[in-house]
Amino acid sequence: MKRLLPLKIIASTSLYVMLQIICGTSNTLHPIILIPGAGGNQLEARLTGDYKPTSLLCNRWYPLHKDHDGWFRMWFDPSVLVPPFTRCFAHRMTLHFDPDLEDYFNTPGVLTRVPQFGSTRSLRYLDPYLKHVSAYMGPLVDSLEEVGYVEGETLFGAPYDFRYGLAAKGHLSRVGSEFLEDLKCLIEKASASNGGKQVILVSHSLGGLFAIQLLNRNPLSWRQKFIKHFVALSAPWGGAVDEMLTFASGNTLGIPLVDPLMVRAEQRSSESNLWLLPNPRLFDGTKPLVITKDRNYTASDIADFLRDIGFPEGVYPYESRILPLIENTEAPEVPVTCIMGTGVRTPETLFYRNGDFDEKPEVFDGDGDGTVNMVSLLGIQSLWADEKNQSLEVIMIRGVSHAAILKDEAALDVVIGVISKLNTKGTTFVAHEQTRVDAYRR
Ligand SMILES: *[C@@H]1O[C@H](CO)[C@@H](O)[C@H](O)[C@H]1NC(C)=O
Ligand SMILES: *[C@@H]1O[C@H](CO)[C@@H](O)[C@H](O)[C@H]1NC(C)=O
Repeated sequence: MKRLLPLKIIASTSLYVMLQIICGTSNTLHPIILIPGAGGNQLEARLTGDYKPTSLLCNRWYPLHKDHDGWFRMWFDPSVLVPPFTRCFAHRMTLHFDPDLEDYFNTPGVLTRVPQFGSTRSLRYLDPYLKHVSAYMGPLVDSLEEVGYVEGETLFGAPYDFRYGLAAKGHLSRVGSEFLEDLKCLIEKASASNGGKQVILVSHSLGGLFAIQLLNRNPLSWRQKFIKHFVALSAPWGGAVDEMLTFASGNTLGIPLVDPLMVRAEQRSSESNLWLLPNPRLFDGTKPLVITKDRNYTASDIADFLRDIGFPEGVYPYESRILPLIENTEAPEVPVTCIMGTGVRTPETLFYRNGDFDEKPEVFDGDGDGTVNMVSLLGIQSLWADEKNQSLEVIMIRGVSHAAILKDEAALDVVIGVISKLNTKGTTFVAHEQTRVDAYRR
């Protein structure tokens, strides 16, 4: 559904952008690349002869709808909400860690691929047959098109296999590293096809962690040549307590039909989920995040926590690959704007009264965007407090949740406002700046 161009946007948009809308040209815009969060783009799979179904129902006929080469959309398909198929789905989505290879790999017999890299199509909605209910970045893309952005010309998408993450230097992380290479290539192409204009990166959630790694793994000269600005929406710079709940007890993503324990093993297996556990550099090392009758766990006790919830396999990859990765979030010295929701009840402490991690804990809430805690949303602000060469703008929108930031009209107005400003003004390099916006101001 196309939103009408709100008057507010017209009022806040400069003459330049207005002219682009009227004349239909877009050559004054900096190209934008959208980088989605976990679960924020479609993922396709194909089963090979090595595939061993976990049950009769899970056999190779499921799902019925495949293309002539046997590829089907694994994420998202509504049949995964039906319990017998939830099991198939969880098994097929599971990653495995090979300690000899020092890397993660797919469940044997399951090939996966990310459709339409470079395009925003696989991240606008997760199921093309259920566009409305599975809309993800769709409303943001619509808003960008309203101010003159054109798919494939000035607007691009960087979907990826969000189950995989990245590892610290010296560790193999084939899938995640290939994504960074593809993203780098896409940035260079987008710039080249727009007369050498610098690119604006716009990420949501986990996409922000990939983006900062991409920036910091390339030389400053490359960053300055190709990156105009990095706009990070709802970025979990220091992880989230909510992720401990996922590891301990499973997470249905708010879908009441799904038994969280049915998807827990799959969620534990995901490399990117390990990356999103609370970062001990940002969370107070004395504050218990998980409380049981025998012992409490702070962000510094994640390895013990993984062992005690019955996931000792996670300890080695966490300690060797993740801890050194999250130890260091350097300032990339390209201008960054963080836009986040605040004032939404967010899990801050989990209380397992009986010490049984299979049970739902009592959850005590704190401030955040409903998923990510405040201390994490503001993570780079505290980490980069003394960085002289880092321009950082922080915009907090009260009452907007982690996902709603991509749909809420007031939030989209803020995002479009930031982007319009980047297209009309030169680089606004000023140290650290903080703004608060009330989503309910209308
Ligand atoms: C765990 O933390 C709670 C709340 O801070 C505290 O009351 C309790 O004594 C702690 N328990 C242990 C075993 O340290
Ligand atoms: C900031 O940038 C200037 C100019 O590029 C450089 O000389 C200086 O070392 C940088 N300072 C820091 C703290 O990185």
